Amino acid sequence: MRFQFDQFTGKNVLITGGLGFVGSNLARSLVALGARVTLVDNLDPACGGNRLNIADIADEIDIHIADVRDFSTKTYLVKGKHFLFNLAGRTSHIDSMSDPLEDIDTNCRAQITILESCRKENPEIRVVFASTRQIYGKPERLPVDESHALHPVDVNGINKIAGESYHMLYSRVHGIRVCSLRLTNTYGPGMRIKDARQTFLGIWIRRALEGQAFEIWEGGQRRDFTYIDDTVLGILTLLDNASKIETGNPEIFNIGGGKPASIRELIIEIEGISGSKVKQIEMSEISGDVRETIANPAKLQEFTGFTPQISLEEGLKLFYGWATKEEIAPRLQEWISSTP
Ligand SMILES: NC(=O)c1ccc[n+]([C@@H]2O[C@H](COP(=O)([O-])OP(=O)(O)OC[C@H]3O[C@@H](n4cnc5c(N)ncnc54)[C@H](O)[C@@H]3O)[C@@H](O)[C@H]2O)c1
Repeated sequence: MRFQFDQFTGKNVLITGGLGFVGSNLARSLVALGARVTLVDNLDPACGGNRLNIADIADEIDIHIADVRDFSTKTYLVKGKHFLFNLAGRTSHIDSMSDPLEDIDTNCRAQITILESCRKENPEIRVVFASTRQIYGKPERLPVDESHALHPVDVNGINKIAGESYHMLYSRVHGIRVCSLRLTNTYGPGMRIKDARQTFLGIWIRRALEGQAFEIWEGGQRRDFTYIDDTVLGILTLLDNASKIETGNPEIFNIGGGKPASIRELIIEIEGISGSKVKQIEMSEISGDVRETIANPAKLQEFTGFTPQISLEEGLKLFYGWATKEEIAPRLQEWISSTP
C-alpha cells in the first residue's frame, strides 16, 4: 500500500460537513498533503459539527458556514474543485424517527441539489459520498458485503439509500465520477461526545472522562469499530486509486470491518483505560437495534490494498489519550458546550 498520496498536492478540495467529525479529520490530512481545502457546514445542532474541530488548521482552509440545502445558490463552491467529499448529513437514527422531514431535507433533497451543482458547473469533479452500514439493517448473513440486501430499520437508513442512489444515478446518467463509502461505527478525536446522538460510544467516552458511571443495556450486541485515522486513510487510498473509477461506472465500498467486538468487550476496554465503572441496566430489545453487524471489507481491500491498521484497544487508547492531553483536557467542557 502506498501512503504518499502525491495526487492531492495543490488540488482544490471541497468537503461538505467539514466541521463534523469525519470531515474535520479528513481536512487535517488533506492540508498536510498540500491540498487547498474548502469546508462547507451549517453547524446543524443535531450533528457533530464544531469549530474547535478545525481550530489547529483554521488559518489554512477556507470555511463557509452555509446550508447544503441552499446549494443551488452556492454553485460557485464546486467550480474549479478537483474533489468533493460529500459528508454533510444527518446521522442520528433517533432524530430521524422523531423528525423525519428534517432528515429527508438534508439526506435526500440537499444531495440532489449538490449533484445538480456538479452536473451544471463541474462535471469533471470526483465525488466521494459518505454512506452508512445502517442501510443494510438486520443482516441476513455476516460479514455483510456490498451485495447484501438493503432493509434499513429507520428513516435515516432509507434516506441514506436515496442519497447514495442519487449519486449512482448521476454517475450512470451524467457521467460524474462517483464512489460511495459505507462507513461502519467510526470513533476518535472530534466525534460528538456531548450526548448519544452520533453514537452511544460518544456519551460513554464523555462519562468515562468525567469519571462517572455510564449505563449500558444488555451488552451482547456485536459491532466492528473503525478508528477515524483508518477511515481517513481508507478514503484517501480509495481516491489514490481513483483512476480505476471510470465515468458512468460508480463504485460502492464498505469501509471498516476490523475485528468485531461485543458491547461488553468494548466496555471492559473503556473501563480499563479510564478507570470508570459501568452501570448495567436491563432492558428488553430496543426498537430498531441491530444485534450484530460486521462489514466485509474485502472489496475495498482488493481495489486498493487498504486494510484498517488500528485495533479497537489501540484506537480507544489513542482517543482517550487525545482527550486527556494537556492542550485538550482543559478545553473539553468548552468542546462539549460549543457543540451545537
Ligand atoms: N461517524 C460514523 O460512525 C458514520 C457512520 C456511518 C456513516 N457516516 C456518514 O458520514 C458523514 C459524516 O458523519 P460524521 O460522523 O462526521 O457526522 P457529524 O455530525 O460529525 O458531521 C456531519 C456534519 O454535517 C453538517 N451538516 C448537517 N446538515 C447540514 C446541512 N444541511 N448543510 C451543511 N452542513 C450540514 C453538520 O453540521 C456536521 O458538521 C455523514 O454523512 C454520516 O451519515 C458516519
